Amino acid sequence: MSGVSAVIVAAGRGERLGSAKQFLPLGGIPILLWSVRALGGHPEVDDLVVVLPEEMTALPDWLAAEEKVRICAGGETRRQSAGAGVIATSPEARIIMIHDAARPFVSRAVVDRVLAATVRTGAALPVVPVVDTIKRTGSGLVVETLDRSSLARAQTPQGFEASLIRALHGGAAGSDASAPDDVTLCELEGHPVAVVEGDPWNLKITTPADLALAEWLVGSGRVSPPLSGGSSSGDV
Ligand code: CTP
Ligand code: MG
Repeated sequence: MSGVSAVIVAAGRGERLGSAKQFLPLGGIPILLWSVRALGGHPEVDDLVVVLPEEMTALPDWLAAEEKVRICAGGETRRQSAGAGVIATSPEARIIMIHDAARPFVSRAVVDRVLAATVRTGAALPVVPVVDTIKRTGSGLVVETLDRSSLARAQTPQGFEASLIRALHGGAAGSDASAPDDVTLCELEGHPVAVVEGDPWNLKITTPADLALAEWLVGSGRVSPPLSGGSSSGDV
């Protein structure tokens, strides 16, 4: 397979963590660099767009040194940043994957599953099971218990036929600036999305507790930083 582009959205402010987490160090390199190397090192990915905060006008040296990387400016919401990244992908792209910079431990196996299912269905989402009992709450009270067996936690990368995701971001669904992820746009338009097995280690760093867990995983040797320009090592 060729003609695979990857977009890494890295234009968020990290409000829940307290700073733009994608630039914080993890295992000696910026968090963003983990996913840049994991996706850039994947043999099928021949084009990598990193979406950076608008105010960051210069490409940092540590990012400029990476193979395949091009950058573009993000927007106010994740949907807008993802849309900007999709526009910036190569016109040759047949498949576009979109990944959160805040998920440094993405593994080769998850990327492979997403690509295979995208070819089959046109869109693919990696998920992990919900393990907690989930309650709907309101006004400080429990409203109801949801059926956990029908729930899943969505991860990235999410994969799409290039023409589909371009149309979705450019069309009516894309005008919903609040869409939390890209597969939401498929749901709004009624386009099927294949579900594939995600990876519990493919955690999203959102809170200080997530960052502490990620640091512990690296410090304990359970994950090691991907090699520059080479194979990804999110596998743990
Ligand atoms: N993101 C982005 N542009 C935005 C908002 C988010 O590119 N306007 C990116 C983030 O950089 C992150 C991914 O989308 O890699 C997932 O978003 P999230 O975990 O919510 O990160 P932040 O928006 O930065 O964090 P917070 O919501 O706590 O502010
Ligand atoms: Mg956010």
